[in-house]
Amino acid sequence: MNIVDIITKKRDGGKLSKEEIEFFVNGYTKGEIPDYQASALLMAIYFQKMDKEETFQLTDVMRRSGDTIDLTAITGIKVDKHSTGGVGDKTTLIVAPLVAACGVPIAKMSGRGLGFTGGTVDKMESIPGFKTAMEPEEFLAQVNSIGMAVIGQTGHIAPADKKIYALRDVTGTVENLSLISSSIMSKKLAAGSDAIVLDVKCGDGAFMKTPEDASALGKTMCEIGQAAGKKTVALITDMNQPLGQAVGNSLEVIEAIETLKGQGPADITELSLRLAGTMIYVGGKASSIEEGDAMAKDALESGRGLEKLRQFIEAQGGNPQVLDDYSLFGPAKLSLDIVSDSYGFVQKIKAESIGLASQHTGAGRLRKEDPVDLSAGIYLHKKVGDKVAAGDVLATAYGNDQAKLEIGAAEAMRAFVIGDDAPEKEALVKEVLGL
Ligand code: URA
Repeated sequence: MNIVDIITKKRDGGKLSKEEIEFFVNGYTKGEIPDYQASALLMAIYFQKMDKEETFQLTDVMRRSGDTIDLTAITGIKVDKHSTGGVGDKTTLIVAPLVAACGVPIAKMSGRGLGFTGGTVDKMESIPGFKTAMEPEEFLAQVNSIGMAVIGQTGHIAPADKKIYALRDVTGTVENLSLISSSIMSKKLAAGSDAIVLDVKCGDGAFMKTPEDASALGKTMCEIGQAAGKKTVALITDMNQPLGQAVGNSLEVIEAIETLKGQGPADITELSLRLAGTMIYVGGKASSIEEGDAMAKDALESGRGLEKLRQFIEAQGGNPQVLDDYSLFGPAKLSLDIVSDSYGFVQKIKAESIGLASQHTGAGRLRKEDPVDLSAGIYLHKKVGDKVAAGDVLATAYGNDQAKLEIGAAEAMRAFVIGDDAPEKEALVKEVLGL
């Protein structure tokens, strides 16, 4: 077997065997296949696609490329959640405490932000003292004692995906159904939970731009999860504007806290409750999604979710007083308002541009090793459908570097599309798959 034959076979529309997929994945992970040949094969897969059998095999080989986590020491049905990537998506910080407060254990690994999308690990690190790394025994013990723990991804989970994803990121080969679903599901299956709830983003600010493509991705991921014996449910959700109002690490943590206090933006509250309700249902604590939704709402309204967040922050070394005193986050020293120059309705807020704007203020990385400014970001004062007049403040950019702030503010200005008519309201949750 050789890699040139595998590349030409896929280039000409052939179906790869399990052995050929293994040869590629293992050879590339070990460094025996160079980047240029791996890139050629990924581009051939991008154009010729993979069928269901090839996609399942690719997922399985990547899952087996590193460690798999054993969560059997945790009692109960462990439920994981994953979002395909968004802007302003702080739902894990809201959903995990709500679900844990309803008795479903959460043992979760989260990622860092890259490019224009944020990551939960960076957000959690904006809490003074918070640790995102811990020994496996400590991680399991924390879930058994308080019902939840969230840590950074270890380097040993699906290393093949880590290497292939980094190459896809720079070769224009991310947006392919088989490559995305195998990438996400190899990590989720290796992470050891019993059930998985997927938030598949759809729209301008997502990898999948249309509801049809997002639905096909959700369906494939549900099939992969179910074939591995895990209950898997996918919610197809709107990403035609950022979620909530805050984009940037500590700004998003503050918004998550406000949401658990019952004062969050409507969209982030609705999506968090829907995800939490679904997780409570697949975690076996509710007999229907509707009952799960009601339990999540009760955990929010009674303040039990907020108390769980307090316990979680304290257990991972963070200062729980941040819940009552946001100045402890160390706010940004500089801010710049983004002002409307026209009258009308906000038609669109391009999520990707707001993500990039936030990255430029210092909240995101241009390279993996870059430090982030945890206080920087963009705060939206107007959302899609809001009426604006010339002179109104659309958003505020925060940061500690005037030059970066100006670049971020200019990018944020470009994100807003203002027109004469009120736009039609998009449903936040478009479809639920896998039930
Ligand atoms: N997230 C992943 O982990 N992998 C992809 O391919 C896309 C989003």
